[in-house]
Amino acid sequence: MTRLAALIFLLLVLPDVSVGSRLTVGDFLRLPSEVSSGIFRHADDDSTGTRWAVLVAGSNGYWNYRHQADVCHAYQLLKKGGLKEENIIVFMYDDIAFNEENPRPGIIINNPAGEDVYKGVPKDYTGEDVTVDNFFAVILGNKSALVGGSGKVVDSGPNDHIFIYYTDHGGPGVLGMPTNPFLYANDLIEVLKEKHASGTYKSLVFYLEACESGSIFEGLLPEGLNIYATTAANAEESSWGTYCPGEYPSPPPEYETCLGDLYSVAWMEDSDIHNLRTETLHQQYELVKRRTANDNSAYGSHVMQYGDIDLSKENVFLYIGTNPANDNYTFVDENSLRPRSKAVNQRDADLLHFWDKYRKAPEGSPRKIGAQKDFLDAMSHRMHIDNSVKLIGKLLFGIEKASEILNAVRPAGQPLVDDWDCLKTMVRSFEKHCGSLSQYGMKHMRTFANLCNAGIDWEQMADASAQACVSFPSGAWSSLHKGFSS
Ligand SMILES: *[C@@H]1O[C@H](CO)[C@@H](O)[C@H](O)[C@H]1NC(C)=O
Ligand SMILES: *[C@@H]1O[C@H](CO)[C@@H](O)[C@H](O)[C@H]1NC(C)=O
Repeated sequence: MTRLAALIFLLLVLPDVSVGSRLTVGDFLRLPSEVSSGIFRHADDDSTGTRWAVLVAGSNGYWNYRHQADVCHAYQLLKKGGLKEENIIVFMYDDIAFNEENPRPGIIINNPAGEDVYKGVPKDYTGEDVTVDNFFAVILGNKSALVGGSGKVVDSGPNDHIFIYYTDHGGPGVLGMPTNPFLYANDLIEVLKEKHASGTYKSLVFYLEACESGSIFEGLLPEGLNIYATTAANAEESSWGTYCPGEYPSPPPEYETCLGDLYSVAWMEDSDIHNLRTETLHQQYELVKRRTANDNSAYGSHVMQYGDIDLSKENVFLYIGTNPANDNYTFVDENSLRPRSKAVNQRDADLLHFWDKYRKAPEGSPRKIGAQKDFLDAMSHRMHIDNSVKLIGKLLFGIEKASEILNAVRPAGQPLVDDWDCLKTMVRSFEKHCGSLSQYGMKHMRTFANLCNAGIDWEQMADASAQACVSFPSGAWSSLHKGFSS
């Protein structure tokens, strides 16, 4: 359990503790970006083929507001950059703008002072159509593999440039989706290889925000596919939500949720204000890395780059266009640095939402009671998952050796696991006996991978899981009604 979670938990279970006080968070200052406005004209595309973009928010639920806010913001940026709507494909669950918790119905913001970013966002793949299979079909341009949705796909040719931006929860080797199963790194890499083999792009840039996002490409994305990827975090650490309640600058007081993610707002707020013909991918990488590291504080992560690093000499413009209103705003390092900010671990953002709701609700109100229940359900799910995984390790390896084997991290440059089918089998075996991992449980993927790396087979895992989990909590987090996550 993280310290924040533990603190909140104590405050909730101890009846006489004052709950009016602010969470203990440090001081920080960050100025919201000023989106330049002006006269728009379309960027000149002729020499670069067509620009395509796929934007994915992989979560749902109001406590995950920030992922869909990030994606909506990205859409506005690309539109202002001159991409055509037919070339931008959006995946978002679309349960935020009109969520009963949203203080501004029909509006989504991605910055405390930000404008509405929801207006005009195309609803290509929403609700239960936000799936791994549809995401892959869209990248591959395979319309016959789609289920539901608008039917828009990346119908690209050999001179085209593709930009993919994905933001969500993740874990070692996996990315979340609002539907099951999760997206596994090896499957994504296979799809990218297939896209490359089809000869239907010149180069592709992938920006990825998620916990442990480096593990999606580390040791997996080869050079030579003409793909340049950057990730919010390395293979072993969380990524961070930002503009969260109780922080500074916080969202407007009526928002009980984080508005954005640190790496995501870093690249977008930079792109919002510059002439992107004058900024290379490498310059943006350096800038985003600095901002996301947050002065190497505990509230930051290490932005990484993978694939064909040479591509980063190209201008950002080639992928996301540029807003003509920024024509006179040349990129220079000095106009890009921002003061240090404070952020919230992605994995704690749900707890922060329930806590903030609880704190603000009137004493004795159904809202307060509901928020407390939501919080305690989430906490008991976490404890159940953490304890079950530990116990399974002990059953398989003995008390002394378990934690060393379960927590081992392979050297940089090696993938998480060699046998991905084994990993998926371990996950299914666990979930069958212990309930759904859900978004929090993704953090244990490395443990499941290490079981495979240590040669544990499916039957041993099934036995240990059955012993460790005689039953699982009946709460929504543990429910398997959406199916297995692998
Ligand atoms: C497109 O998807 C369908 C259904 O999954 C599959 O049978 C077909 O082979 C795919 N086409 C291509 C060109 O990959
Ligand atoms: C940029 O500066 C030039 C010269 O001062 C001016 O004519 C032009 O309108 C400016 N462009 C924008 C978009 O502000």
